[in-house]
Amino acid sequence: MHLKPSQFSIPSLFLPLFLLYTSIQGTLATDASLEFLDPTLPPALPSQTPKCSVLVLHQDFAGTVSGSSPVTTNYTHPGDCPAPWTRVVLELSFSVSGVHVQKDRVAAVWIDGAEILRTSTPFTINPGAFWKVHKDITRYTSLLRRLSGGRGTVSMMLENSDSDSDSDSNPPGVLTADVSLHFYRGALSDKSIYTAHPSVKGLYREPADLVVPISQEKASNGSSFWFQIGGNSDMPTASVVIPTNAYRAVLEIFASYHADDEFWYANPLQSEYPQGGLREGRANGGLRQLYATIDGKFVGGHIPFAVIYPGSINPYLWSPVAAIGAFDMPTYDLEVTPFLGLLVDGQPHEIGLGVKHSQSYWLLTANLHLWVDRWTDAVEAMLVDYRAPPLRVNPHAEWRDQEGSSEIDAEGLLRFIGWVSSSKGNVTTMVRQKVTFKSQVVVQNRGTVRQVEVVNKEAMTVGAHRGKNQVVGRLQLFMDAPLQVQMSIVNAAGGAVLQNTRLYHQLEEVLNLNDNMAVSTSILTDRQDAEGTVLMHDGMPVWGGGSTKSSYKYRDENTCYLRTVDAAGGAVKNDVTSPSCSLVSTA
Ligand SMILES: *[C@@H]1O[C@H](CO)[C@@H](O)[C@H](O)[C@H]1NC(C)=O
Ligand SMILES: *[C@@H]1O[C@H](CO)[C@@H](O)[C@H](O)[C@H]1NC(C)=O
Ligand SMILES: *[C@@H]1O[C@H](CO)[C@@H](O)[C@H](O)[C@H]1NC(C)=O
Repeated sequence: MHLKPSQFSIPSLFLPLFLLYTSIQGTLATDASLEFLDPTLPPALPSQTPKCSVLVLHQDFAGTVSGSSPVTTNYTHPGDCPAPWTRVVLELSFSVSGVHVQKDRVAAVWIDGAEILRTSTPFTINPGAFWKVHKDITRYTSLLRRLSGGRGTVSMMLENSDSDSDSDSNPPGVLTADVSLHFYRGALSDKSIYTAHPSVKGLYREPADLVVPISQEKASNGSSFWFQIGGNSDMPTASVVIPTNAYRAVLEIFASYHADDEFWYANPLQSEYPQGGLREGRANGGLRQLYATIDGKFVGGHIPFAVIYPGSINPYLWSPVAAIGAFDMPTYDLEVTPFLGLLVDGQPHEIGLGVKHSQSYWLLTANLHLWVDRWTDAVEAMLVDYRAPPLRVNPHAEWRDQEGSSEIDAEGLLRFIGWVSSSKGNVTTMVRQKVTFKSQVVVQNRGTVRQVEVVNKEAMTVGAHRGKNQVVGRLQLFMDAPLQVQMSIVNAAGGAVLQNTRLYHQLEEVLNLNDNMAVSTSILTDRQDAEGTVLMHDGMPVWGGGSTKSSYKYRDENTCYLRTVDAAGGAVKNDVTSPSCSLVSTA
């Protein structure tokens, strides 16, 4: 993170200690500019030149905290770059200017009110920091077609303050964002490499014909499209009318967590737990479930992947390499085709979004991806099997003063079956999901040593067949997202806390796909091991360091892509990419 001592506004009470540490450690690196990166997916940008690239939005964000509206622009598409496109990539470039601390923020991009990217920004005090986010947005082709037809807007939101509200005397930091779209036509030279998560590849062979935003209509008082979820029982809804000839439907949920739930994944279970190094202070356990409803009926959910924000745990661990998913936050797909029978009557229906076990607050939106049958005016559809018991949750906690442990086990099994009769025949879709979850928090040594361990596994099957047993397609997705954090703290003078952390987390997705008898398998393994030290004061890091090893591996029948990045002391030490995994020895 290149926290340069000279650039900090140091709380005066803290100064003597700060100087002490500075003199012990000497000065940190003082690069004038620093690129932050998220070494996750294979490069989304194909090596060839796009047919056209459009700079959609250029904006300086400063002093836009709370209540600001998203920035919106009208879009103009070049005439010589018509649909269809083989791939469309969103590029978001950021740079930081000004001299003040930039805390990590959440930001998003929308097309006509449908969210297409949720991202978080690095925690930085480096005025020369910059970074880029690339996302394959081909799955939003229907929105892009409307946009290119001259009827659409692109919006972006970033709540950026100029650091703490008490710092009137400091000039504001500015985050400058440029949003571009790159459109590709023709065969892509490197098309065997998928640039979206395997789950997206599996469910989205062909992009949907329609993408309907499930979001807050832009409120007149200037809030954004996000629904704000204040807690467990909060479930905002949006009213939608869907075409009567829709034959397939997938609901994609975007989520980020804030305030009391910013560290939900490390939460112990107990109501009066003393404040500690993780700054949680709220203790309702580390289990959350994102879910959706149709007219009040639960239609599926996911335990979210714990994206660690760039300012979380120890900001030095995420400088300059972001935590898994921080720059392109994962979205969660629910296959809701079995429920089309509830939706295709041409009437308005209420789609609800919520987070079970949550505290204030989460920001959610969703996109309803719909495939429509152009040869039919109205499909017939019916839900025939519905098994959706709530997660079986088993909590256990034992605390004595500042020491103890808590554990939450959860298991769930869902099954939905429904048929849709269209010009493609009478196709029955079966969705089955099994989740296994465990969160364990152990605190020892009078609250100064803590361990967090999370097991988060999901097995999901979506099968479609016609008639008795003619298989149309089948996908199986296995997700495994473990997290381990070990932390010890030492209380220092002036209320400061010196914190040592080791962390390991991973996102693995294994996809088996049988699509019209063509069978394929792909495996994605994204892993990070990090350790470091940070001195925190008033919730702000004032000194520290860390090292992070990242390894991203994607393998299918044709490809093996591996990228390993080692970062230490605020700089990348080693960054090796291999298009065939054998060239690099795995970490
Ligand atoms: C905007 O209006 C909504 C609905 O009336 C309200 O819940 C929200 O707090 C308001 N936001 C602001 C920033 O005033
Ligand atoms: C976008 O287009 C609308 C309708 O044509 C117009 O009212 C609005 O002023 C335009 N906005 C910008 C930023 O040009
Ligand atoms: C579609 O198939 C299901 C199960 O095979 C059957 O119960 C239903 O009546 C069929 N629907 C139509 C419109 O044929």
